[in-house]
Amino acid sequence: MRKIPFSKVICDGNELQYVREVIESGWLTTAGKCVEFEKRFGEKVGGKYACAVNSATAALHIAAEALGIGPGDQVFVPTMTFTASAEIIRYLGADPVFLDVEYGTCLITPAILEAAIRQYPAAKALVLVHFGGQAAEMTWQKTAGSGQRAAGSVEKTDASGQAGILEICRRHGLKLIEDAAHAFPSRYQGQMIGSIGDVTCFSFYANKTITTGEGGMLVTDNEAIYKRAKVMRLHGINRDIWDRFTAKKANWEYDVVAPGYKYNMPDVNAAIGLAQLERADDFRAERQCCAEFYYHALAGVKGLDLPVCKVPHLDHSWHLFWVVLNAASPVNRDQFIEKLNEAGIGTSVHYKPLHRMTYYRERYALKAADYPQAERHWQGVVTLPVYPTLTNEELDYICTTIRNIFAK
Ligand SMILES: Cc1ncc(COP(=O)(O)O)c(C=O)c1O
Repeated sequence: MRKIPFSKVICDGNELQYVREVIESGWLTTAGKCVEFEKRFGEKVGGKYACAVNSATAALHIAAEALGIGPGDQVFVPTMTFTASAEIIRYLGADPVFLDVEYGTCLITPAILEAAIRQYPAAKALVLVHFGGQAAEMTWQKTAGSGQRAAGSVEKTDASGQAGILEICRRHGLKLIEDAAHAFPSRYQGQMIGSIGDVTCFSFYANKTITTGEGGMLVTDNEAIYKRAKVMRLHGINRDIWDRFTAKKANWEYDVVAPGYKYNMPDVNAAIGLAQLERADDFRAERQCCAEFYYHALAGVKGLDLPVCKVPHLDHSWHLFWVVLNAASPVNRDQFIEKLNEAGIGTSVHYKPLHRMTYYRERYALKAADYPQAERHWQGVVTLPVYPTLTNEELDYICTTIRNIFAK
């Protein structure tokens, strides 16, 4: 039987060569390859400082810590995300305040954020997820004097006035942590995600747009955040291991200035990341082709909602492509997944929202009725395969299978 997995890792570039170099160097933990990966990744996303860690979860944790999030603080998080976006708030003794998302994009919009600030004026920060690889509405931009938006710019669709999320955060003193686990390489108004907000966190988990096996990156232009993140990534030690063994100063001499974590990225992983980075734009373009195939082949299927894309397709990383089975669907979500499974097509669900997860639901007495848009998405969502090596023939098979299910 035909088998189309939900995701596939592509590691047939320079990965083996760079990993071999690491092994032959005799230095397997964080060293030169990690430094090089940080430099290249920082340059690619246009951030001044990049700090490589062993997951996006680690990056989010040390970003929130560096921003001073602590016990009792309220932090906005979308309910439609992976638990990592919220658990890091709990690591610091702070409390997530879950927000509903916009149906169709699964993003926090300026209007959603403004309403949340009115309800929770004491909230200290926002974890903003660029869901699926589409950037949230970061800024409001007008062409000077004309009152028109710049050519090719994103259509403003909400009625929140003339402010994007960044401006709203600044106006209200809300700290912003961008969860860009899905969003490399993504752009907003032509600017790379990673070069817009104060601190942005990327994931290189195996199924992400580029991978290091496990890994993450914190990117910032803020020197104080970077310095704190670097210290916290390695036990709160004031010198990193590589520095201790390459600097002239005695290598045993170091101090512990905080109870830090063990979050450094080993060079073996950084080597894989360097090879992946070389192909990141090609990978993205191939995923865009997959998404465009789906939009074209699934347009007009009654009972199926497709994701809403508000940015130019070129600016989207296309990490996820989902369909939502709406009220007119002849099958329910679980039957649909089962039928695709029988046809050898792998799928996933992004996400069961966090307000439905036992820990958050019970701790914060959350009710599904308070999250109508996330509920509407979750009740019908199925995520389809998207990866660079997915062929047109496979895409055609997936879409024909779906059309046949809906034709019955
Ligand atoms: C939105 C989001 N944030 C954070 C993470 C955590 O990434 P990592 O596995 O690199 O810690 C994920 C992982 O799937 C994610 O989807």
